Amino acid sequence: MVNLDTISSLCKRRGFIFQSSEIYGGLGSVWDYGPLGVELKNNIKNLWWRSMVYERGDTEGLDSGILMHPDVWKASGHVGNFKDLLVDCRSCKKRFRHDQIKTDTCPECKGELTGPRSFNLMFKTFVGAVESQASEIFLRPETAQGIFVNFKNILTTSRKKLPFGVAQIGKAFRNEITTGNFIFRSREFEQMELEYFTRPEESDKWFKYWVEERFNWYKKYGIKENNLRLREHTKEELAHYAKACYDIDFLFPMGWSELEGIAHRTDFDLKQHSEISKKALIYYDDEKKEEITPHVIEPSGGVDRTFLAFLLDAYREEKVRGEKRVVLGLHKCLAPVKAAVLPLLRNRPEIVKLARSIYEDIRGDYKALYDDTASIGRLYRRQDEAGTLHCITVDVDSLEDKKVTIRDRDTMKQERIGVCNVKKYMKDRL
Ligand code: GAP
Repeated sequence: MVNLDTISSLCKRRGFIFQSSEIYGGLGSVWDYGPLGVELKNNIKNLWWRSMVYERGDTEGLDSGILMHPDVWKASGHVGNFKDLLVDCRSCKKRFRHDQIKTDTCPECKGELTGPRSFNLMFKTFVGAVESQASEIFLRPETAQGIFVNFKNILTTSRKKLPFGVAQIGKAFRNEITTGNFIFRSREFEQMELEYFTRPEESDKWFKYWVEERFNWYKKYGIKENNLRLREHTKEELAHYAKACYDIDFLFPMGWSELEGIAHRTDFDLKQHSEISKKALIYYDDEKKEEITPHVIEPSGGVDRTFLAFLLDAYREEKVRGEKRVVLGLHKCLAPVKAAVLPLLRNRPEIVKLARSIYEDIRGDYKALYDDTASIGRLYRRQDEAGTLHCITVDVDSLEDKKVTIRDRDTMKQERIGVCNVKKYMKDRL
């Protein structure tokens, strides 16, 4: 598999990802998604939303605030449990997670290490003008709690019956001690989470269902099966809220690592919030004529990790007529740009005019672009590296026969089709 340096330099070169605040020397472990990156990211989120909300009849969506009442995090257990043990190096001042240190000395400079101390991963800030403990709040470390605290609101307004799910995509923040591996672990990232509420006795069945469903989602959008695996958490690894958990791992260049977790959260969260808020988060079971606290199955994936996995999996290098060709063979629904319109000769106004009119005709339907800033060979290479599905080339003959050449990214096969058929050709293929 391609290494992370190659992917991160492609991301920078083609405008997928930039380092945050780069002109000021950068801010560690925060990333900005550029023109192509935001397209790929939106495509990932839209496909997830489509499969989790639109294609199902048993789910609803939510977009809750990043800032929440501080008691939310007491109830969820994050104030008490969302901690890592860290050690400091007395010489170089670097910090490390205690569980990742294999020697008694600093892995960087061999200096002396401090004893381990506990460090909460939540970012703190203050509400209002006074910076006191009373005004202290947190940036959410997961989107899930916004769903739990809105359980009653959603149930009342949507009138859903068990089992049902609530989906949310949004930013989460963690003051990670060890980051790195490009966008794999950052301090600001996005999650795609579903909280699926079930009758307690049906929860194990739905747990199995969601593990399989989510595994298949990654395959459906092109990830090779031998780059994916399921891994069950050991009892020691389980988060404080989970009875069981499976990770969907991807074979990243640094080894198998978590892409998404599917956790059986039992009734932990609803019960905790009921107790601390003194508002009953319960469901009236019509069949049994009793109040129950549903159990929760939670598929929780990271947008950024999914982004990285799709890129790594799609990257390939080929030899074409003795030259290296780099292609991002992304699934057609994920490709950031669906069509690039390229005039063969940019100094011929009639060719430029026709190419521009084709671009203007298609650009409202999906992401398309127009490029005349290099020779056709360079333009093709640029689009292959960006994963663009089709290149539409306008040449001298186009002016006579009103036809253009459409080139397929994967096969590089070229077809000559009428200008008036371009829209339909693209529609059929998307
Ligand atoms: N609500 C459950 C939860 O937050 P998690 O395993 O801590 O569970 C879920 O996080 C997913 O969020 C992970 O599988 C990963 O894809 C993503 N994620 C977590 N921490 C991350 C970080 N620091 N950077 C990027 N993605 C992260």
